[in-house]
Amino acid sequence: MDSRNHSLADFFDVDADMAGRAKMFGEYLKDIREKRHLQYRRISTDGSGPVMKVVDHYTGKIKEMVYLASNDYLNLTKHPRTIAAGRKALEKYGSGAGSVPLLGGTLDIHIELEKKIAKFKGCEDSIIYTSGFGSNCGSLLSILQEKDIAILDTYVHASIIDGCKSTNIRFFRHNDMNSLERVLQRVKDKYRTKLIAVDGVYSMDGDIAPLDRIAELAKTHGAYVMVDEAHATGVIGDTGRGTPQHHKIEGKVDIVAGTLSKALGGVGGFIAANSELVELLRYYSRPYIFSTAMTPQVAGSLLAAIDVIEEEPEHRERLWENIRYFRSNLTALGFDLGNSETAIFPIIIGNDLKVKEICRRLHELDIYANPVMYPAVPKRLSRIRMSLMSAHTKEHLDKALDALETAGREYGVI
Ligand SMILES: Cc1ncc(COP(=O)(O)O)c(C=O)c1O
Repeated sequence: MDSRNHSLADFFDVDADMAGRAKMFGEYLKDIREKRHLQYRRISTDGSGPVMKVVDHYTGKIKEMVYLASNDYLNLTKHPRTIAAGRKALEKYGSGAGSVPLLGGTLDIHIELEKKIAKFKGCEDSIIYTSGFGSNCGSLLSILQEKDIAILDTYVHASIIDGCKSTNIRFFRHNDMNSLERVLQRVKDKYRTKLIAVDGVYSMDGDIAPLDRIAELAKTHGAYVMVDEAHATGVIGDTGRGTPQHHKIEGKVDIVAGTLSKALGGVGGFIAANSELVELLRYYSRPYIFSTAMTPQVAGSLLAAIDVIEEEPEHRERLWENIRYFRSNLTALGFDLGNSETAIFPIIIGNDLKVKEICRRLHELDIYANPVMYPAVPKRLSRIRMSLMSAHTKEHLDKALDALETAGREYGVI
């Protein structure tokens, strides 16, 4: 098999049973590896940081790479306060919560975290889950049923799309308010609950949802709004509170969802909303009811992470200095960055093979960036995806810029 002629999409539904499908996919993976195009699941031996030790898939040796693929935007995974707070909680409560939240797994530290997230997000209450995927998917599955409708931006995260499997779905064009209005007019009076769901910051594009205009349209058309703050929390808004703060509409969004695994540096997800809706989720959302509560050390670290965001603005300020520096230099080199405005940088190439080759070359030059291709994005928009952290120095960014210039020229994209 020649992997250059295939993509992951070809192995979703093949004419073979389980073992046959796995075998075909295995042959595809083997060929990608042989062509040195396999840049997924690279293994780190020291964890997230601006430079990371990575086991080279091909030589088996450890190499130090400038890490441009982390969502640990503020480097809170290794902040002394998050580490100390996690350690303290581990010693106090032990290594696990012991049960699901409804049946004995709720600790006072979980309640403290839920209250703190709610306050941080300007909502009455919040519920925490052990993954952001689970919180989006599980909450939507419990809220939206056959008589309801989800109105989704076409670029919304997979966890939101999967959460709408038991309801009706209409998509509107990405960040296009005329398209959203048309959909709202078409679904008028036909459904019980109409919920518009968007990402605050889009994970593959780094652009920001026009949440103020979405909230206005929702009000006019009697719809609710949910925003996924995964890549916005800690990054945008005057004090890092995310997209509602960025657009000055805090308290006006019905459901503020998010993950605890990106700028907050832990793992898990949350839904912040009014107290009644949060209480409903506590009894009806399946990943909350049927899954063991968050480990205490994660909850402890997350409490400290929110304090750091509120009390140490210098991390966010440094991140934004890096964003401005990297963007102006990449633009000067002639790369196409789409509509990115935040710490996520898509370099749009529009050719899957070139994306693979450039990422291989970047790997050789000790730059860790991810290829994003069809079916994750349309073929004409295949890209290299990079993200910045506050702890990247100018030297790190210059090394990345030099490597990108070298690879970009070699493959004729600049
Ligand atoms: C926009 C968005 N929402 C939700 C998630 C899921 O979050 P988690 O990684 O905590 O499961 C992600 C993570 O990749 C994401 O990018």
